[in-house]
Amino acid sequence: MTIQRILTGIQATGELHLGNYAGAILPILEFAKANPDEQEVFVFCADWHGLTNKDKFEKPGLYRNKVLACLLALGYPVDKHVLYTQSSIPEILEMVWYLSSSIHVGILERNVTYKDALQNNKLPTVALFNYPILMACDILAVKANMVPVGKDQSQHLELCADFAKSFNHMTQTECFPIPKAYLQDNPVLPGNDGRKMSKSYGNTLELFADLKTVQKQIKAIKTDSKSREEPKDPSDCLVYQYMQALGNQESTAYMADKLRQGNYGYGDAKADLWQAYNAVFTPEKYALYAELQQDSVLTDMLAEPLEKVRSIVVETTQHMRQALKF
Ligand code: ADP
Ligand code: TRP
Repeated sequence: MTIQRILTGIQATGELHLGNYAGAILPILEFAKANPDEQEVFVFCADWHGLTNKDKFEKPGLYRNKVLACLLALGYPVDKHVLYTQSSIPEILEMVWYLSSSIHVGILERNVTYKDALQNNKLPTVALFNYPILMACDILAVKANMVPVGKDQSQHLELCADFAKSFNHMTQTECFPIPKAYLQDNPVLPGNDGRKMSKSYGNTLELFADLKTVQKQIKAIKTDSKSREEPKDPSDCLVYQYMQALGNQESTAYMADKLRQGNYGYGDAKADLWQAYNAVFTPEKYALYAELQQDSVLTDMLAEPLEKVRSIVVETTQHMRQALKF
């Protein structure tokens, strides 16, 4: 039986928040429950991608360890599946150069990320322009079969498949299998201001923030003015949406029932949400999160997976060199 290789990347551009938890981290943890004899899961911190914004160049260095520590503290099974940092594998950048030789500039000019930057009067860097090639190399480097991403990344995945085909065609080889996108249709979690919860809007409920801050943020969640007695529609209630995002079905169903029945105020709902947060983000996980952020601890813990993934990428780079007759 051939083992399916599933790969996804998380950028390190700020503190992770409840939207990331529901939309990216929980799905990754779900995939990682797979039996490694059937499916291998590769997750990496896409720190080089964070350098596409010239004004925030210092972010990836600041947040890289937090992303890895967060996944590990929440139970990513690094003994069964793979976790690594993109910048620990320099061959990926060698691949970027080789792959670039088969890609026309016009294709990148049509990329949404680049067009958005131009439309918003930002001055795109070469790194931003090349972003889809780097992302394609992340995927092709490990010859991934399936890539779970949000819908906003679908064009990048289409480009990756096109780039793989162009390189195969140009070199008359089967160097790359063509990866498939697995488009995830997770609901977008709103922030307290009604916009998408996002670190760019400063409207997040941060993961692993100090508990006083979390409590304050929960208390500050906006609600309507319905009295405690009145029945309430869960789908209109942000506290309920945050409860859903935490992923515990029992507590979510309980809150939905209580809201619909009435005699359950927003204060009660917030107290239940606070409890549910503490049940997921336990003191043990807080302690692990703090410990795992240390360079020495992470380097030790990720040494074996890094060796595994690097040897795969070295082999792929070798295939590219051979295909190009280098
Ligand atoms: P941000 O908007 O804070 O910069 P990213 O764009 O880095 O977040 O998102 C990283 C991952 O988290 C993506 O897979 C994205 O789909 C998911 N994600 C981010 N914000 C939300 C949200 N508000 N609701 C659901 N998923 C989200
Ligand atoms: N571009 C993705 C994002 O912004 C992160 C990412 C980088 C990625 N390389 C990847 C995702 C490769 C999947 C596969 O969310």
